[in-house]
Amino acid sequence: MTNKLKYFIGNWKMFGDFGSFNIIHKINQFGYKSRKLNKKKIVLCVPNTLIHFFKKKLRLKHISLGAQNCHPHKSYGPFTGSVNALMLKKAGAEYIILGHSENRLEGETNQIIKKKIISALDKKLNVIFCVGETHKEKIKGRTFSILRKQIRSTLEKKFNINKIILAYEPVWSIGTNRIPKINELINTIKFIKNEFKKTLKIKKIPKILYGGSVNPKNIRLFSSIRDIDGFLIGGASQSSKKFIDIIKNYYK
Ligand code: 13P
Repeated sequence: MTNKLKYFIGNWKMFGDFGSFNIIHKINQFGYKSRKLNKKKIVLCVPNTLIHFFKKKLRLKHISLGAQNCHPHKSYGPFTGSVNALMLKKAGAEYIILGHSENRLEGETNQIIKKKIISALDKKLNVIFCVGETHKEKIKGRTFSILRKQIRSTLEKKFNINKIILAYEPVWSIGTNRIPKINELINTIKFIKNEFKKTLKIKKIPKILYGGSVNPKNIRLFSSIRDIDGFLIGGASQSSKKFIDIIKNYYK
């Protein structure tokens, strides 16, 4: 089994309340117990309302917390109902998911995502930048052109590559129990990494996660793909057992 650092990042989406600290607590304990076994980074991207509470209540050492979106404006301003990267950083977030398809579907454009990335990088947050094609785009054979557009119109040469992690999340795979064919996934991951390198004009290989219906049963299928640096896990991250089993089974 590889000794390369692997990320296991949970995206709680609009789920969880103050009673959910038990889930975080168990995952943190698992992180502590297994800290010497494999090189891994565990991150939980929880609702904004819970970041500070979890951070204070649990004095987390073995996992990091993240947010799931932010307003593009860099500082405070008259934007009712919004939260910026600075506020999230102050609340205790170290990571932030940006460009998630659930927000793209609500009208978030590549231009808006770009502004959000600039703002998050400015506040030294680690950005998890999501890309992925819809089912319609896939069957029309447009996967690569969509991914290229998402990458090229959002990222810039000046961005700090060390603070960006890519996440390939095919929209048709999110919450559907359908995952890509392994060969297809290998090719797509390779394509995204190359596009990223070309856009940022760098030689360094970027980190990339896979997200979409990852669960304790199918995780073994992914462990053969060396080029994947980890996983962005939705539904299964809201259960400490499922999330921990995903990590355990990955290293089995
Ligand atoms: P599921 O794991 O529930 O398919 O969600 C994936 C996702 O959207 C993570 O960001």
